[in-house]
Amino acid sequence: MTDGPVVPPASARDAALDLLGVGEGPLRIGGVEARVLARDFGTPLYAYDARAFRAQLARVRHAFAPLDLLFALKANPSLALARIARASGAGAEVASAGEILLAERAGFAGEAIQIAGPGKSERDLREALRVGATINLESEGEHARLRALAHASGTRPRVQIRVNPNAAQGGARLRMADASSRFGVDRGRVVAFARAIERDGACTLVGLHTYGGSQAFDATAWLSACNELLATAHEVEDALARPLDALGFGGGFGWPVYDGDPGFDLDAAARGLRESLAAEATPRRGSIELGRWLVAGCGVYLTRVVDHKESGGRRHAILDGGMHHCGAAAGLGAIVRRAYAIVRADMPRALGDTPVTLGGPLCTPADRFAKDLPLPSLAAGDLIAVLNTGAYGLSFSPLAFLGHPSPAEIVCEDGHAQLARERGAPEDVLRGQR
Ligand SMILES: Cc1ncc(COP(=O)(O)O)c(C=O)c1O
Repeated sequence: MTDGPVVPPASARDAALDLLGVGEGPLRIGGVEARVLARDFGTPLYAYDARAFRAQLARVRHAFAPLDLLFALKANPSLALARIARASGAGAEVASAGEILLAERAGFAGEAIQIAGPGKSERDLREALRVGATINLESEGEHARLRALAHASGTRPRVQIRVNPNAAQGGARLRMADASSRFGVDRGRVVAFARAIERDGACTLVGLHTYGGSQAFDATAWLSACNELLATAHEVEDALARPLDALGFGGGFGWPVYDGDPGFDLDAAARGLRESLAAEATPRRGSIELGRWLVAGCGVYLTRVVDHKESGGRRHAILDGGMHHCGAAAGLGAIVRRAYAIVRADMPRALGDTPVTLGGPLCTPADRFAKDLPLPSLAAGDLIAVLNTGAYGLSFSPLAFLGHPSPAEIVCEDGHAQLARERGAPEDVLRGQR
């Protein structure tokens, strides 16, 4: 899975429980016992620890200072969390008009917002122009569409070229750069593209951007991508005979969600990038963008056992939540299906010896969180927590499948729990239908 040196494998369960500050007692999120959250808000639900999120934001900002940190809203488009990121001094990385509206509501403005993503719609681009976001261009065609809109609106947007380095980033589980890619402009065409943007004059080319992939566990491979971006910047600066103002080095740092996942060596990455930047003659503004590393461990999906039975010699616990809320934990997007760190909420550190297969209420074999997972024995009514689900939890789930309501989202801090997003209702299946 990884191609270079990484920090040793971690227990995904311990990574989450340590971040949440849970010792030997029951699971608490932001100082609120999971049992109390389930009692007061019902299940299934997502709970996020605000203090843990702040700590993750601060840790990255401190390690990478003076670079800017952008919180990738796609990892968790909760307004409450976006506000916390904003208050911490981070910017927002967005991928759609909707995420721009969310960023704006959370207080991000202008340059603090960067939009990336292939296939940006006219509305996406219009909203980006309206708020003055920096636009990461994915293709020459996108530049043509943007320049027409910019002309019509009398604006001159700041743009960066997203560079596809033509090689996959080692150690990234989800790769978004390659010899041929939907993302960015192939490195060999970047100089010509930069010249064309400059000549055209409808947009201000402020810099370059790259993003090699998500669940990137190899800091050395990520640093190679950063150095390649610097080399590309030199070529562009030579061609334009002027320095670039900004470079977006991507991110996608890995966070352990399966046992045996390595950690990401944040300090080595920060040190390496600092060394590379110290050798640069040109001072430029730099940024990194992260979603998962910041928020995955801060979130927990809580679901209750509604039924418990034996079949063919196996124990099955059927939950009130499932893949429609927590797709990644059911294997969505994974090549190999493995269990997330799943614990009994009243004894999260207890090692179990009763293998149980955990599945949700959906009529599909895909709705399964674990097969023969050793847990302390379960009965109907027990509360189960799927850890490390603060990133790409609800936002990466087939919510429309089978018409179950969306879960509530709760933000917890210092023993207080606050409803951040209301639970959906069965009637939601009819919304917008004629
Ligand atoms: C352009 C871009 N930036 C940032 C991110 C966030 O990545 P991660 O959540 O792995 O940190 C993504 C994720 O797909 C992305 O595509």
